[in-house]
Amino acid sequence: MYAPKFALLDAVFEAFHPSEPHHYLAYVAVNPEQQNRGVGAALLSHHHRQLDTLGMPAYLEASNLRNRELYIRLGYRAGPPMILPTTGPTIWRMWRGQPNTAGPVAFPESGPLPRRRSL
Ligand SMILES: CC(C)(COP(=O)(O)OP(=O)(O)OC[C@H]1O[C@@H](n2cnc3c(N)ncnc32)[C@H](O)[C@@H]1OP(=O)(O)O)[C@@H](O)C(=O)NCCC(=O)NCCS
Repeated sequence: MYAPKFALLDAVFEAFHPSEPHHYLAYVAVNPEQQNRGVGAALLSHHHRQLDTLGMPAYLEASNLRNRELYIRLGYRAGPPMILPTTGPTIWRMWRGQPNTAGPVAFPESGPLPRRRSL
């Protein structure tokens, strides 16, 4: 029943995916009973330290304004919102540039995929 909606969501994510090399964090979640205790920020900070060692940017999609703020606090820059063609949440593209980049990091161009990398 929901499969076509997820297929559409995936197609939108693909279309707006940055074309330059980066690490893509597809999902992050903390057990609801453990949320708001700093676990998510600690997990992401650990992950970012590894990326910073590699000099690698990070990209993810924020699914609401509240987690968008968490990502901004952790060094991400928000891109323009993605409005889905059907009903659904507004989603923001989030980019965390390389740590040694001087000044504000420009939001990367989108393009056809193929270069997703994992640690
Ligand atoms: C988003 C999430 C991973 C953060 O982990 P966490 O351990 O709760 O976060 P921390 O305690 O380190 O930081 C708290 C901040 O996380 C964000 N946050 C916490 N719970 C949230 C929730 N249910 N929905 C959205 N953002 C949430 C807020 O920015 C919060 O700060 P605030 O209280 O000032 O608004 C976690 O809340 C979660 O799993 N949410 C549901 C799934 C989800 O939205 N995943 C992200 C998809 S992009």
